[in-house]
Amino acid sequence: THTLYLTRHGQSEYNRLRKIGGNSGLTSYGLEYARRLAAFSEGTICREDGTNANKARLWTSSMRRTNETAQFIPHPQVAIDGDKWVQMSHRVYRNLDEIFAGEYEGLTYEEVAANHQDEAFLRKVDKIGYRYPRGESYYDIISRLDPLVHELESYHEPTLIVSHQAVLRLLYAYLMGYDREDSTKIAIPLHTVLKLTYNGWSRCTEERVFLGP
Ligand code: F6P
Repeated sequence: THTLYLTRHGQSEYNRLRKIGGNSGLTSYGLEYARRLAAFSEGTICREDGTNANKARLWTSSMRRTNETAQFIPHPQVAIDGDKWVQMSHRVYRNLDEIFAGEYEGLTYEEVAANHQDEAFLRKVDKIGYRYPRGESYYDIISRLDPLVHELESYHEPTLIVSHQAVLRLLYAYLMGYDREDSTKIAIPLHTVLKLTYNGWSRCTEERVFLGP
């Protein structure tokens, strides 16, 4: 089986302030999640199959909050579990960065609604197609995820992806066989690992693990 683990970064300063975008670091809650995620990775992901060299993959975006979330996962990790070697390689992909909100980076949703009513309306009626001024749309993310999905599907090792809300909505919808048009409102909760397993059909089976705090 090929198992993918998807998670958002731990709570960031901008999450706490309800601001869009940015490149803030983690809050103390977010850091606690990072520690729990590392323990979960060592205990679960790296020991998933019975081969001698089980090379789990760790992919993060290039942003501060995802790299801080992955910081306690040793990589490459080489540990001996009985007579089995387990390790985890880390790659940083800009393709996994959060939707870029252009001129609206750092604003709150309330500020956008109050000061840019026309734009807020356009996004409301066509969330997937709406492109932020000098920024990105969900469609733009789909095109940058395309090569990454090809790469992902050519591997058989368990892979942990630490990314962001909009990006994970699209990846999740693709892997679960949902319409992309419906994907932009899917809830991807913080501090939760989505475990998706290929089942030989077009969609994965899903398990959610809330790690807190
Ligand atoms: O609020 C966190 C966040 O990751 C923002 O940085 C991003 O703009 C947003 O979520 C994406 O969600 P939505 O498309 O619903 O605004």
